[in-house]
Amino acid sequence: MTKISHRLFISVMAVIVISVTIMLIYYGTSYYNTSMEERFYHTDHKLLKPSGPWGHGFGIVGSLFMFIGVSSYMIRKRVRAFARWGLLKHWLEFHIFLCTLGPILVLFHTAFKFGGIVSISFWSMVAVFLSGVIGRFIYIQIPRSIEGRELSLSEVRDLKSDISDIIKNNYSLSQESVSIITKSTQKKAEVISGNIFSRTFRKYFVDRRNVRNVKKKLKQNKLSRKESNQILKLVNNEISLNRRIERLTTMQNLFKYWHVAHLPFALIMLIIMIIHVAVTLTFGYRWIF
Ligand code: HEM
Ligand code: HEM
Repeated sequence: MTKISHRLFISVMAVIVISVTIMLIYYGTSYYNTSMEERFYHTDHKLLKPSGPWGHGFGIVGSLFMFIGVSSYMIRKRVRAFARWGLLKHWLEFHIFLCTLGPILVLFHTAFKFGGIVSISFWSMVAVFLSGVIGRFIYIQIPRSIEGRELSLSEVRDLKSDISDIIKNNYSLSQESVSIITKSTQKKAEVISGNIFSRTFRKYFVDRRNVRNVKKKLKQNKLSRKESNQILKLVNNEISLNRRIERLTTMQNLFKYWHVAHLPFALIMLIIMIIHVAVTLTFGYRWIF
């Protein structure tokens, strides 16, 4: 997928999620805002109640979306025969798309009435969704190959360039500027101590100060705007790699624990949903068929 088609892919998914949500809110607000006792008399009750053609449909389509979103990603990730079917990270984006749209539809299926044993399925869905957002954050902290495989510490270290050589050979900078720029991209002894949170916090401000110093230095050299931007980009890349290297082991461990939490909630949701569907079928609910 080229960069442009990837942007298009993400934009189309985002537009679908946003417009579906706006439409559901727009057409449903009057009904969902009505109290439980009075809903029965609302003109949209027949359509939007959990067993109505629309409400029931939201439940079926939403569940189907989640099922496709989860199984397609797991199959692509685990089955070797599909290893060449697009990049894993694009499948993860598709997983996130369907597993965001699915829960939104299921939320409207419940008509904001969370009763009975099926509410455990609902709250498990909310838990998987929220843990998914946290997992995504951890996921992007771990450097990966283009294919989506986690890189080892030594592979990440190999990504680091010799910034000093690059700027010395390609730009006309004073010796002092080269040394300041090189230093700003090295790990700082002053922020090594403390726990991960205080270290991250302090390092953030140290890095910002360094980037400001680099900008100041670049202004003192006779560089074109384009050259200054190129050097700044290099510096920012190196600083970001430093941060990732420092946090790599912590993030890899966190991600392992995260998997242990994400999967059981997904399973609880699925099992109770199956029971819920079986019960509704037993009671004779058939949707439009
Ligand atoms: C994770 C997926 C799902 C969740 C969390 C969920 C949740 C709920 C909730 C909270 C209700 C309202 C219960 C009440 O009135 O107190 C409900 C009702 C209902 N659901 Fe689902 N549902 C899901 C999927 C489905 C699916 C896939 C179907 C159909 C195949 C379905 C069919 C129904 C029906 C027919 C009702 C109305 C039952 C009645 O009025 O007695 N649901 N669901
Ligand atoms: C109710 C909705 C969701 C369900 C049922 C669900 C379920 C799953 C399952 C079963 C996996 C595979 C775990 C494994 O491979 O061991 C997974 C992976 C993942 N999901 Fe979700 N998910 C949902 C929503 C989300 C959302 C909203 C996000 C992000 C915003 C997300 C982000 C992720 C990430 C980052 C992974 C890990 C990918 C990897 O390790 O390769 N999920 N999800």
